[in-house]
Amino acid sequence: MFFSVILRRESIRLDSILIAECHNEKVSTHYFVETSQVRYPVMVERGAIEQKLTELIPAKAHRLFIITEESVWKLHGHRLAAVTNAFGDRLRILHFPGGESRKRLAEVEALADQMLAAGGDRSSVVIGFGGGIVTDVAGFAAAVFMRGIPVIQVPTTLLAQVDAAVGGKTGVNLVGGKNLVGSFHQPIAVVIDPEVLGTLAMREVRAGLYEVLKHGVIRSPELFAMMEEHPLKILAQEAAYFDKAIAESVRIKCEVVSADEKEGDLRRILNFGHTIGHALEAETRYSLLLHGEAVAFGMRAATHLAVRLSTLAPETGTRINEAIEAYGEIPSLAGVTAEALMARLISDKKTVGGHVHFVLPTEIGATVIRSNVPDDAIRASIEAAL
Ligand code: GLY
Repeated sequence: MFFSVILRRESIRLDSILIAECHNEKVSTHYFVETSQVRYPVMVERGAIEQKLTELIPAKAHRLFIITEESVWKLHGHRLAAVTNAFGDRLRILHFPGGESRKRLAEVEALADQMLAAGGDRSSVVIGFGGGIVTDVAGFAAAVFMRGIPVIQVPTTLLAQVDAAVGGKTGVNLVGGKNLVGSFHQPIAVVIDPEVLGTLAMREVRAGLYEVLKHGVIRSPELFAMMEEHPLKILAQEAAYFDKAIAESVRIKCEVVSADEKEGDLRRILNFGHTIGHALEAETRYSLLLHGEAVAFGMRAATHLAVRLSTLAPETGTRINEAIEAYGEIPSLAGVTAEALMARLISDKKTVGGHVHFVLPTEIGATVIRSNVPDDAIRASIEAAL
């Protein structure tokens, strides 16, 4: 028998969500993550880094640490001029080398040592300014420094804006796998400024858009339809479409995290495409694919699986696969075999208590979670996706 939980859009609270204001083409949207412990704003607005960030930093911050990558700082550091002026010698810029291989405990220790040497204490504040690796590491450094200090996340890649920087998951990698040491440490604010994405490589934009598409499939027929209809405008970052896609995606992430901060149940729907996506990332040694690309492949395979297990109508499966394709091809997977990915999933099964869960769409905007899916159905779906 399959274990299954039906997850529907109606099942969660909406009262923590502030309504988006769309004035002409400018999207100015503030949402909130609201859990039993915290409530914090997540703003999506062009120019927000320049105009809004300073007022979000507690004025009594004795030291302010901006954790960033050198390349990000060179491109976008000037946007934080108001912050650097306001904090003067209370501010330190800490460069994190970046890259999945440097997302390790040793780097967090090095950051904490620098924070202490610079006079950091319990009244210090961290800003994570960069992509998902930086926001994960900065968030974790803030979570453990002096047993926890506030962090504001300012993500500068699309993937970090619509996923990694929202929701309080922080952490680093072990040799044995990604994000295996970490903590839930909710930020005090997230500032999402689509303006910074203008310098992002197209491949990174596509990778982020696959995650946006994921949010449409799991929770928003409206977002999915817009992405299905306007791929060229969205890929070209036309604000009227692109910023709305980001905002709707962020709204969904805030809504899900507010309802299930610690991933007891509902939050697992955010893992659509991740079961096989993670296996593919590990199989390609975290170097061939961007995370969003691996998720795109995983979504394709999970969609095939959903059709195979009759949770999803074949024509809806075709819509999902065509929408993924409309955002571009992922790099060639020549040499990757279904057998190798199956072996990864079987080894995952051992590390996650005997069950691998699949988030399967049942229609656009709704999913079901299943475990104990027969291996031959998984293998056939991977083959179809390959
Ligand atoms: N990236 C999935 C989550 O935040 O739960």
